[in-house]
Amino acid sequence: MPDSERATSAVVSAVIVLAAGAGTRMRSSVPKVLHPVAGKPLLWHAVTAAAAVRPEHLVVVVGYGREQVGQYLADHHPTVRQAVQDEQLGTGHAVACALAEMGRISGTVLVTYGDVPLLTGATLVELAAHHQRSANAVTVLTADVVDPTGYGRIVRDESGQLAAIVEQKDADDVQRAITEINSGVYAFDGAVLADALTRLTSANSQGERYLTDVVSLARSDDHPVGTLTTDDAAQTEGVNDRVQLAELGKVLNGRLVRDAQLSGVTVVDPSATYLHADVVIGRDTVLLPGTSLEAGTVIGSHCVIGPETTLSDCRVADHAAVVRSHCTGSTIGPGASVGPYSYLRPGADLGEKSKVGAFVEIKKSFIGRRAKVPHLSYIGDTTIGTGSNVGAGTITANYDGVLKSATTIGENAFVGSNSTLVAPVRIADGVYVAAGSTVTNDVEPGDLAVARGRQRSVKGWVLRRREGTASDRSARAAGAGSPTATDV
Ligand code: UD1
Ligand code: CA
Repeated sequence: MPDSERATSAVVSAVIVLAAGAGTRMRSSVPKVLHPVAGKPLLWHAVTAAAAVRPEHLVVVVGYGREQVGQYLADHHPTVRQAVQDEQLGTGHAVACALAEMGRISGTVLVTYGDVPLLTGATLVELAAHHQRSANAVTVLTADVVDPTGYGRIVRDESGQLAAIVEQKDADDVQRAITEINSGVYAFDGAVLADALTRLTSANSQGERYLTDVVSLARSDDHPVGTLTTDDAAQTEGVNDRVQLAELGKVLNGRLVRDAQLSGVTVVDPSATYLHADVVIGRDTVLLPGTSLEAGTVIGSHCVIGPETTLSDCRVADHAAVVRSHCTGSTIGPGASVGPYSYLRPGADLGEKSKVGAFVEIKKSFIGRRAKVPHLSYIGDTTIGTGSNVGAGTITANYDGVLKSATTIGENAFVGSNSTLVAPVRIADGVYVAAGSTVTNDVEPGDLAVARGRQRSVKGWVLRRREGTASDRSARAAGAGSPTATDV
């Protein structure tokens, strides 16, 4: 990770991620910061970016929906500290809650938001480095945008120095015309921040304690304040509703696809390829259109995935191919092939160069090296040995309505088409099962199992019982009913 390597250049005492707001415009029972983009909650993106600066303390301020948000953090980011803001009295108050949680803090403190998913660790590293190089007490990350509506405006003095941040609702017409906006991401000197926070008032149009007022307070105390302007305004955009969630999700997906391409993955149609944020893909793998690679998926090199394939929490080894299939919680071995139109469920484990063909469902089963399940099968709770072939339409009947039971198929076994293997049952090494068998008893090595009714043909039945039909005529034309050598 180049982010974390560069992080060592600036020592950051703390990153505070604000995530206490209600997010009412999401119209959701789920707290805003837990809504996913690119397969991960907004808060995951914020915490991941924050972690890239390797801060001594990483604190998330929770408030609205804090049970759910707190539980998410405890489960997925156990080293992150939580500060509680009971009432949302403003961004300045939120930061004060974080400082109260950490105790006295000196050195550089960064502040970011939990609902800004495109901000990168690299940008935070750059902000911290710029802040320290400039020996600022406050450095504000700003962006120049076409439509600044809703944002705090960056107000500069005659010499172009940062003077104050004025909120949209408090701004006059001249200030509203300013297109340089406050991203809401800052670097502070911890001591200056702590002191200024004690002096914030809520004498503004929203009756809140604005973090933005720290800028003018620091300036009036003659502390140096400055800005860093990003040319990638998308990095500063927050999610307020589900329209923005989708828009930023698309931008994020574009970035993930591009990163994959630049690392050696061929993506035939980036606009029809969907990658979750933690997916890993090896070199010279080809992603065909309609491919979704979801959280937890790791793909080797020289694979071909797609078209129209979803892999969720799957591990795919080198040189494997998955065509038009849906796979979750599965492992696909080196050189194995899946599809078209197959469904691998959790615990499907495909050995090296094994084949799962068309319209096959596999659950919690191991398919041995070079073993094949080529057509139209359900295989569940089963182990298949090396080199075995499972004929078209074979079903493992693993469920009796109460219990699930296991099926074992040995090495180099041959299961004839349309067989039903009723579990629990063991098919030993080198066994043949006759097509159409319903196997209920174990089969010993080298045996042939035939478990079906013996065929009986009723001589001339059609000629007698379907006389005059097309079948009758065809049968007669083919010689049925005429005397044969044996009749004479
Ligand atoms: C804030 C900035 C504004 C900036 C904009 C960028 C202030 C006063 N204004 O405005 O200059 O352009 O962000 O997006 O800071 N939050 C809390 N507790 C609170 C209030 C907010 O945790 O009491 C969190 C929210 O969950 C959210 C973030 O802080 O993640 C920003 O809050 P929000 O109310 O959206 O601030 P803006 O009005 O957008
Ligand atoms: Ca906002």
